[in-house]
Amino acid sequence: MIIITGASSGVGLQLAKCYKDAGKQVVNISLQKSEYADHNIVLNLREGPEIEKAAHLVQELDGQIEAVINCIGVYNGQKFGEITEAEVKKVMSTNVKAPLLLISLLLDRIKHDKADILNVVSTAGTVGKKENPLYTASKWAERGLTMSLQEELKNTSCRVISFCPGGIRTNFSEKALGYDASEEDWMRPEDVAMFIKQILDLPKNMEVSEVIINRK
Ligand SMILES: NC(=O)c1ccc[n+]([C@@H]2O[C@H](COP(=O)([O-])OP(=O)(O)OC[C@H]3O[C@@H](n4cnc5c(N)ncnc54)[C@H](OP(=O)(O)O)[C@@H]3O)[C@@H](O)[C@H]2O)c1
Repeated sequence: MIIITGASSGVGLQLAKCYKDAGKQVVNISLQKSEYADHNIVLNLREGPEIEKAAHLVQELDGQIEAVINCIGVYNGQKFGEITEAEVKKVMSTNVKAPLLLISLLLDRIKHDKADILNVVSTAGTVGKKENPLYTASKWAERGLTMSLQEELKNTSCRVISFCPGGIRTNFSEKALGYDASEEDWMRPEDVAMFIKQILDLPKNMEVSEVIINRK
């Protein structure tokens, strides 16, 4: 069983397709249903009680969790001088609180099932950016929580992967900005999903702790 947050669109949707094609049970936790998921947990993971509800519903599922893949995320293009508290709450709740709290609530089950965790961060979590400082801060935080999980799960069979891609051609920026800011040469979500699956398919004694992947 593969748990994917944000499998209703973009990279998460393509991952759900990859795993469905491979015969795995796919669980989507997102704002909307995923056409490839066997189980859809439709909740707003920005809200603490809904994260708790999602964790509870996952706990009730039979079967071994092989991986939890966090694709959930929202973009924000506010620059310094424009940033609003409402957007700080939205971006930090979605990009940081949701994966942090969900994994924390599921940690015993993750350890028991020897499940892997892969967080889709961003290259924005590895550099400073004046174009989108709030989004960048959220991705540094998500990368930090991934590193802390690596420490937490060091002596277990669970692998923890920090996956930091550059631009991917999804509706991600359009949802936030109202127009498509992606470019022709950005990576295809199906290629990114295939690569994530290849990383997780490696033998369990091989942990790719961090991937930084840029478009060429
Ligand atoms: N696209 C890029 O250029 C790019 C580059 C680097 C990193 N990333 C990262 O890659 C990840 C996936 O992004 P993507 O490009 O595939 O964008 P996407 O298609 O917008 O995927 C984001 C997913 O998160 C879900 N989501 C958003 N807010 C939620 C909430 N409050 N509760 C539950 N689910 C919520 C979305 O649901 P809905 O379908 O309902 O909106 C969607 O399924 C993100 O973490 C993003 O930061 C993207």
